[in-house]
Amino acid sequence: MKIKNKKRFAISIGSLMVLIIIIIVMAIIGINNQAKTIQASKEAQKAQVTESQKKTVEADAKNTKTQTSTVAEATVTPAESKTKEPDTAVTTEAPKINDSVSSNEGITQVVNKNHSISADFVPDDLVSVDLPSTRDTQLRGVAATALTGLFKAASTAGLELYCCSGYRTYETQAGLYDWNVQTYGVEGAELVSARPGMSEHQMGLAMDVTSASAGFDLLESFGSMPEGQFIKDNAYKYGFIVRYPQGKTDITGYAYEPWHLRYVGVDVATDIYNSGKTMEEYYGVN
Ligand code: DAL
Ligand code: ZN
Repeated sequence: MKIKNKKRFAISIGSLMVLIIIIIVMAIIGINNQAKTIQASKEAQKAQVTESQKKTVEADAKNTKTQTSTVAEATVTPAESKTKEPDTAVTTEAPKINDSVSSNEGITQVVNKNHSISADFVPDDLVSVDLPSTRDTQLRGVAATALTGLFKAASTAGLELYCCSGYRTYETQAGLYDWNVQTYGVEGAELVSARPGMSEHQMGLAMDVTSASAGFDLLESFGSMPEGQFIKDNAYKYGFIVRYPQGKTDITGYAYEPWHLRYVGVDVATDIYNSGKTMEEYYGVN
């Protein structure tokens, strides 16, 4: 081979080797990047699983807290609550067992699981309640005036009461009931929430009351707090009854609600208080 050819041959071999080295280097970089992508994807999946586990734990914790609090109404009043409200997806129609039409005179009308009011009933004398309150809420005028008397008496006794939830529309009650069904199941919801058309809140004659000591929540333990005791002993003097007393679930259909006051007028409230009866027993209705 001539010198010139030898030189060309050496240059070609050299170029070929450089090319092979470049290909090998590129292949290594490619494999490395692929490995990094797989690793990143695995970490993303892991993060997603961890996040979803975290959410489940948080949801469980929320449910546990709510259950121990026996909160049915305070946490779940769509549109009217100042706190977080639930989404309402399911719409449950109230069975019309007794499609009685409520009237604005009917302050002693029994409304319960067997006696409903019309979906379109709206009291025509609603007023905004001008009392310490966790949210803006309304009552029928006569009940609002009476509640003001009860709150003043509590204040004189050194206790501060707060309104939590008064009048509710049929639709608001439907949202509440649905939230409770989604959270506790039908059986659990039935103990703490009225179906739409079956709540005294739609009558504008019921107010849920709370206190700072109860964390502005609706708790069973409120019944043994000074504010709850005061209500138990004095609400009747202003025309209110504790509508769902302890140990009467088989009659009222609801768990103990020391916070739920129903206005019936002083005479009836006093009679009911002295009799120790529920409203159902007092009127002899189911
Ligand atoms: N918690 C009462 C029963 C209501 O929903 O009216
Ligand atoms: Zn209530």
